[in-house]
Amino acid sequence: MRRNLLLGNWKQNTTRASALELLGGLKAELEKSPTKTELGVIPPALFIDLAIGQQYTSCFAVGIQNISKTVKGAFTGEIGADMAASAGVKYALVGHSERRAYFNESPEDLAGKLMRCLENNLIPVYCVGEELSDRKTGNYLNVIDAQIKAVLFGLNTKDLNNIIVAYEPIWAIGTGETASAEQAQEVHAFIRNLLANKFGASGSDISILYGGSCKPSNSEELFSQPDIDGGLIGAAALNAQDFIAIANSF
Ligand code: PGA
Repeated sequence: MRRNLLLGNWKQNTTRASALELLGGLKAELEKSPTKTELGVIPPALFIDLAIGQQYTSCFAVGIQNISKTVKGAFTGEIGADMAASAGVKYALVGHSERRAYFNESPEDLAGKLMRCLENNLIPVYCVGEELSDRKTGNYLNVIDAQIKAVLFGLNTKDLNNIIVAYEPIWAIGTGETASAEQAQEVHAFIRNLLANKFGASGSDISILYGGSCKPSNSEELFSQPDIDGGLIGAAALNAQDFIAIANSF
């Protein structure tokens, strides 16, 4: 269901001590500047438990950065969707460009991860985005089209009610370079149309987040676009003040 949502992807950052400090900072910022926006933090898996404690449940939901495409068994190092769900996790990132690029995750892998999420009532946040070269040659909508079709078009219409999409242009991730509000809006509208044509109302009613150097100075303009429902925030999510300032810019 379409709603405003802000997720903070901590990536491979924080230690136990700094994770606790960041969680405490977020709670303190929220007390100073309460927000109506639904929030989620996505810490490293080891620290998920810290974020699920009772004192935080009213502040934010918790996500996981990666889950296994398999159900269970002899897969050393993997974390299953059932494990994450049983630990109180609500969201799981699927298809983040860093996982696609550095861990060679294929569309088949991503489809498996997505299914494991849906089977376990985790909400997958399916990430798509083009390289700078695709942006420059004007091929970017074809890339997005292929990424959406390869993984989401195999789903049932009712599954669409339980997933979130994030548009994250690779050239804007961690680079300080943000897509302009118009560039982001164009792709968000494209994704919504694609899903609406395939899945009807369930497709058009999906939440689509923007990610890529989103920060307090540009979030308001991005979130004011008709098809941008929120953000998937990297660097700025590691600063409690910035993250809550972004949450208050809807
Ligand atoms: P960034 O990361 O905000 O640091 O660009 C976004 C993301 O990768 O989700």
